[in-house]
Amino acid sequence: MARVAGSKDLSKRRTKSNKPVEIQDLNLNFATSPTVWEFLKDDSFVRGLMGPVGSGKSYACAAEIMLRALQQPVSPLDNIRHSRFAIVRNSYPELRTTTIKTWLEIFDESTWGPMRWSPPLTHHIQLPPKGNLAGLDMEVIFLALDTPKDVRKLLSLELTGAWVNEARELPKAVIDGLTHRVGRYPTKAHGGCNHRFIIMDTNPMDDDHWWHRLAEKEKMAGKYPWKFYKQPGGVKEVDANYDDAIFAAGKYWAMNEKAENIPNLTQGYYEQMLSGKNLDWISCYAQGKYTFVQEGRAVWQEYSDVLMSDDIEFLPEYPLQIGLDFGLTPAAVFGQRLENGRWHILHELVTFDMGLERFTTQMKIEINKMFPKAKDIQIWGDPAGSKRDEIFEVTAFDHLKTQGMNARPTVSNDFKVRREAGAMPMNRLINGKSGLIVNKTCSSLRKSLSGGYFFKREAIGSGQERFKDVPFKNNFSHIGDAFGYLMLGGGEHRILTRKNAKFGTQQQTIAKVEFNVF
Ligand SMILES: Nc1ncnc2c1ncn2[C@@H]1O[C@H](COP(=O)(O)OP(=O)(O)OP(=O)(O)O)[C@@H](O)[C@H]1O
Ligand SMILES: [Mg+2]
Repeated sequence: MARVAGSKDLSKRRTKSNKPVEIQDLNLNFATSPTVWEFLKDDSFVRGLMGPVGSGKSYACAAEIMLRALQQPVSPLDNIRHSRFAIVRNSYPELRTTTIKTWLEIFDESTWGPMRWSPPLTHHIQLPPKGNLAGLDMEVIFLALDTPKDVRKLLSLELTGAWVNEARELPKAVIDGLTHRVGRYPTKAHGGCNHRFIIMDTNPMDDDHWWHRLAEKEKMAGKYPWKFYKQPGGVKEVDANYDDAIFAAGKYWAMNEKAENIPNLTQGYYEQMLSGKNLDWISCYAQGKYTFVQEGRAVWQEYSDVLMSDDIEFLPEYPLQIGLDFGLTPAAVFGQRLENGRWHILHELVTFDMGLERFTTQMKIEINKMFPKAKDIQIWGDPAGSKRDEIFEVTAFDHLKTQGMNARPTVSNDFKVRREAGAMPMNRLINGKSGLIVNKTCSSLRKSLSGGYFFKREAIGSGQERFKDVPFKNNFSHIGDAFGYLMLGGGEHRILTRKNAKFGTQQQTIAKVEFNVF
């Protein structure tokens, strides 16, 4: 394909100077975005950029990919700069409608060559050498991490660098896994890779998210610390008598003069988005502050944190039951089913790192520490954990067994069955109190049940919307799934099938696996 008309070597434009530059060839301007500019100038191995909506985060990351490609060494074999990048998003619909859309706004197919729309979705940009200007060969692979198979694919790529878009939706394990996939392309024969990197951009998240922990609480030390940048808000809170103050969610707001990327946005962009929004939404998306925002429709609308959370303790006369969610970031929920049918959820274990081995060790430590008097321990997990085809090469159940833990697969892993099993005790009233009580200390599970685990809204045209059938995968989905497996394995499925059998509506998937009953 033809070299972009009038293009020069863009890499020369990347300067160490503190003065923000205009990248004319891409029509990008960072003069009004000092935080973005600092982020772009930083050579740290792993870097994150957080800010309100529309603050230019994704454009900056897309530009960085191109700039780094243009800085790769020229191959002595063919006079071309070779590079390969992964651009990662939590799910395929978001990847397609947001991430790729942004990429193609900057690198449109008519100028930079066509996208390959079959998997793996790739934009292969090739510019042949011209005169004394070296050529460019960059592969940009777009990946959504909907299934363990996609994760495995990502973690087997040989890359130059990677961009994780909307990083708050992904477990830290993905970034950890990527750290050893970057810097591996091109080969030495083609000049090697001179700069390996992972960049991440995101809207704000909850303050118990891994990003918040690393950016604010436990900043990394050492030679290669991860760096985190936070952009100023688009709006600020003001007094009622402030000129042109806007009233929304019970407070007064005005444009923040420090907001970035404003000249590149339509006039009144932030002010206009305030009406009809609740305070959490404004705080997260317009102010760019760490906030938990309830989006979509909660998976368990039956849950009420006021009625169903309390301070509770382990009762040694009942078995300890544990629900497990395997996968990228394993999670466990510990509970007891009392004689009267009430569930006490006592403890949770949420991990941020990949690895069943570490998880199992941690689980044993937690059991010994929290429940030393537990005699009868019953563990339940996703039947998919019986298959070798997971991220881990050994089956999850086999691994647990070698560690002395007898875990059993639940009879079904149908999401709907799991959801219903979880809803059963919430709908149960025992002696005037709910059939489910969650210990106040289980903060992740309580957030998950309160709507952190949710069905996403989906526009269906003419202003109408509906909710998707499958829940949105995020930081709260794993602990929610572990809860579902606990309910399913711990007795609710029996009640559910009895109830449904009466109406003849039950649909279930029976796991075709052998398991140990102990
Ligand atoms: N450096 C830039 N130069 C020119 N225009 C820009 C630049 N950065 C962003 N824009 C414009 O601002 C808009 C918003 O930018 P972008 O999509 O990068 O924001 P974002 O921070 O990723 O938003 P969101 O939080 O919604 O994902 C873009 O659609 C583009 O029109
Ligand atoms: Mg974006």
